[in-house]
Amino acid sequence: MCGIVGAIAQRNVVPILLQGLLRLEYRGYDSAGLVVVNNSHLERVRSTGRVAELTEKSASTHGHLGIAHTRWATHGVPSERNAHPHISSDVIAVAHNGIIENYEELRTRLTAQNYVFTSDTDTEVIAHLIHSHYARGNSLLVATQAALTELVGAYAIGVVAADNPDLLIGSRKGSPLLLGVGEGEHFIASDASALLQVTKNMVYLEEGDVAEIGLRGYRIFNAKGDEVKRPVHISELTNESVELGEYRHYMQKEIHEQPQALADTLEAVCNSQSLVPGIFGAEAATTFADIDSILILACGTSHHAGLVARYWLEEIAGIPCNVEIASEYRYRVSVPNPKTLVVTISQSGETADTLAALNHAKSLGHVHTLSICNVPESALVRLSKLRMLTRAGPEIGVASTKAFTTQLAALFLLTLVLAKLHGKLSKEVEQQHLHALRHLPSAAQAVLNLEPAIAKLAERFSDKQHALFLGRGLHYPIALEGALKLKEISYIHAEAYPAGELKHGPLALVDKNMPVVAVAPNDLLLEKLKSNLQEVRARGGELYVFADANTRFHSSDGINLMQMPEHAGFLSPILHTIPLQLLAYYVALQKGTDVDKPRNLAKSVTVE
Ligand code: F6R
Repeated sequence: MCGIVGAIAQRNVVPILLQGLLRLEYRGYDSAGLVVVNNSHLERVRSTGRVAELTEKSASTHGHLGIAHTRWATHGVPSERNAHPHISSDVIAVAHNGIIENYEELRTRLTAQNYVFTSDTDTEVIAHLIHSHYARGNSLLVATQAALTELVGAYAIGVVAADNPDLLIGSRKGSPLLLGVGEGEHFIASDASALLQVTKNMVYLEEGDVAEIGLRGYRIFNAKGDEVKRPVHISELTNESVELGEYRHYMQKEIHEQPQALADTLEAVCNSQSLVPGIFGAEAATTFADIDSILILACGTSHHAGLVARYWLEEIAGIPCNVEIASEYRYRVSVPNPKTLVVTISQSGETADTLAALNHAKSLGHVHTLSICNVPESALVRLSKLRMLTRAGPEIGVASTKAFTTQLAALFLLTLVLAKLHGKLSKEVEQQHLHALRHLPSAAQAVLNLEPAIAKLAERFSDKQHALFLGRGLHYPIALEGALKLKEISYIHAEAYPAGELKHGPLALVDKNMPVVAVAPNDLLLEKLKSNLQEVRARGGELYVFADANTRFHSSDGINLMQMPEHAGFLSPILHTIPLQLLAYYVALQKGTDVDKPRNLAKSVTVE
């Protein structure tokens, strides 16, 4: 979703702003723009194309202070006039990420004060509001602070003023923003990857913080206006970790990074002889001992991880578990149980609905909160009592891949730790699970070897409009995930069903034009699944079966078999995800879609 970069330096900041925007491209956007302060003027360049186009258009733009933005349209179509930064009275420029909910009321009021609106965005009210306070003689800091008190909604903003070439203002509430500390130069950005080019020293702003940033230093004020100190973190990100390297797309790279990402996520556990609750935080042992149920809240792919975990948690740990889509839970009247552990799952830790769901749960009196997240300094992690960080590294492709499989690994650890604390795990079984976890990265590597065969299989999907995915039990959420991957990057309409549901409706869709993808592990439901697949074949449906060894499936007319190297027991959903990711990737390649930046989608969904 929208990305912000800002810089104040003794050199021309335009190349820094553009390089930063390139790094933020993955978040998803449909227009881009920048403003620099030059000789007490605001020089603005905007474009509806890619950052590369903005780069061409800003070849002659120079300045030592500037802000830049990639916009993912919410209020107003993607167009140059709606692209940020927005300017008020030729003096104030603002780049904004988030949504201002009371913008209509503010717009009416500001119009009555003779402010002229030149865009359809909610952001423009911020620029005019700041200007209305600035024009009364307030400093840029005070004017911004005053304007922010009038906003309802979520924002991260960068602000500059034409007559103030030594000052950059940044603020956040509900959307991410961090400050980069250089030597005699400072920066702001939506995430650290945008600033690796200039610094590794990052200060994560907290909710409501406003930063007043100059060449030589910066001051941070909290929501109450008190000056506060925030720690400087040395980012562990490297330029290589956000570069494509030998791969054609980030999605392909990230699919291939899964063995390492799993090994990194499981490192602490796999190197020890037994499981300890401490991996979830210092208070985990006491918290986990006090809970009698689990509520998982997440969106999209992260929600699918939660659905798999429910099977594990109930079967292995014997703990009742509910899994809810965060955007539904936050508005539903639910009955809280104070002994519930609320688990939020998120790659970014900035998903607006997941954050709101967690806050809603807390407002209902839930005190036991755990986040499973891939971004250490994210809002979600900070809002939760306990945390387990997945160590997938930066995920750039919009379609989540390595984040999902590492979330599953973390959720399996949670299951085992809870099972142990609740007396459901013998020493012997614990050792068996640890053994399987140690083997998981190499098992994932073996599945990746199917890539050429899957690339070939994908050719058969290129002319299809629809696809059906089937799974049962633990693997039904994997069918859901396979369908989501296919639809979001290849734009083929795909649906997933628990295979037993087929004859209750979806079988009506099956004919020779309907590819049916089946996730077929060698588990207790195998024979049932086989019967379901017979129902498909009997109606002429073309089957694509991802089957474990010894499942006695054979390729034949209408049955395309992809043999998985082994059956991984409880960890099987993690391995069965990988070929479905590869299938979606190669079908998208066939169709020539923008794999890493599928249309209409954004990486971090920081608005509701
Ligand atoms: C799909 C995908 C999305 C995200 C969802 C939640 O490939 O990436 O469905 O899973 O937007 O995002 P996070 O995990 O960042 O909260």
